[in-house]
Amino acid sequence: MPDLASTAQTIVAPGKGILAADESSPTIEKRFKSIDVPSTEENRRDYREMLFRTTGAEEFISGVILFDETIRQNAADGTPLVKILEDKGIIPGIKVDTGAKQLAGSPNEKITEGLDGLRDRLSEYRGLGARFAKWRAVISIGDGIPSDYCIDTNAHALARYAALCIEAGLVPIVEPEVLMDGGHPIERCNEATERTLRAVFAELAAQRVPLEQILLKPNMVLSGKECPKQASVREVAEATIACFKRVVPAALPGIVFLSGGQSDEIATAHLNEMNKIGGVPWELSFSYGRALQAPALKAWAGKKTHVDAGQKAYYHRARCNGAARKGAYSESMEKAA
Ligand code: 13P
Repeated sequence: MPDLASTAQTIVAPGKGILAADESSPTIEKRFKSIDVPSTEENRRDYREMLFRTTGAEEFISGVILFDETIRQNAADGTPLVKILEDKGIIPGIKVDTGAKQLAGSPNEKITEGLDGLRDRLSEYRGLGARFAKWRAVISIGDGIPSDYCIDTNAHALARYAALCIEAGLVPIVEPEVLMDGGHPIERCNEATERTLRAVFAELAAQRVPLEQILLKPNMVLSGKECPKQASVREVAEATIACFKRVVPAALPGIVFLSGGQSDEIATAHLNEMNKIGGVPWELSFSYGRALQAPALKAWAGKKTHVDAGQKAYYHRARCNGAARKGAYSESMEKAA
């Protein structure tokens, strides 16, 4: 059996984190629309090939989460995209949930699907080179929500997914995302995040998932996006660490935060501040999608002649987040670029 604990530790090696490039077809279409590029298979391939071939990114990027299409795709010259990553020592991962659907009986909440047939799909993905997987549950804050019903059903599904991953020889990344949408203050995010994490770790224990072999991908504790009073970088870092210390067992090797719609620079600043505070038993790392890709997507703009500019933008964000892993990021890094 593969040593999943050591794979998990390699993914959260000091100074490194994950690029989430596993946008589903509707999501990547939305991202491409923002730069006026049609979401064709070739464009999706060219864009991701650009990111994956970026020279030197492997100094800061330990793993990349892929989408089903991408793990089967070849670069323009015929090299499998998975091989491009492997040759740089970057570990390929795969998104395995099939999306968040409306939760029956609770119209404003969601449940993530994808358990049916998962055992067979995990085994196929392992054969295609994946060494870790991701499943995202979505929890919304609003009038009377999140409900225990939504939290508990999602936690149960996350643990079922994680147990199947362990069996298949893949490190499960367990992602319960409390969304930042809404006008709520940071205290409500804190409360919803704590409730969610408690439920998730209870289910993981009940379903015999060894915590040494998994990674947690959570939201940070933030003010709602539309809240007039936005918590400072320091407040977010302190609230997030305090919340996680209460509920996340020390056996977990690492926490890889999602960016969830924060601007790229703020997401980096938050991670940096948490690592400056330190004093926690887990590695505090990143698994950013938008916060690593947004400037690269813009710089690329779908043009072959802009590949260099796109790679430069991606490398810069990877480097800044690599520094944030050690609490060594500063605004001067942005200016210097
Ligand atoms: P964001 O960092 O853009 O939230 O994406 C990370 C991710 O993988 C969400 O599932």
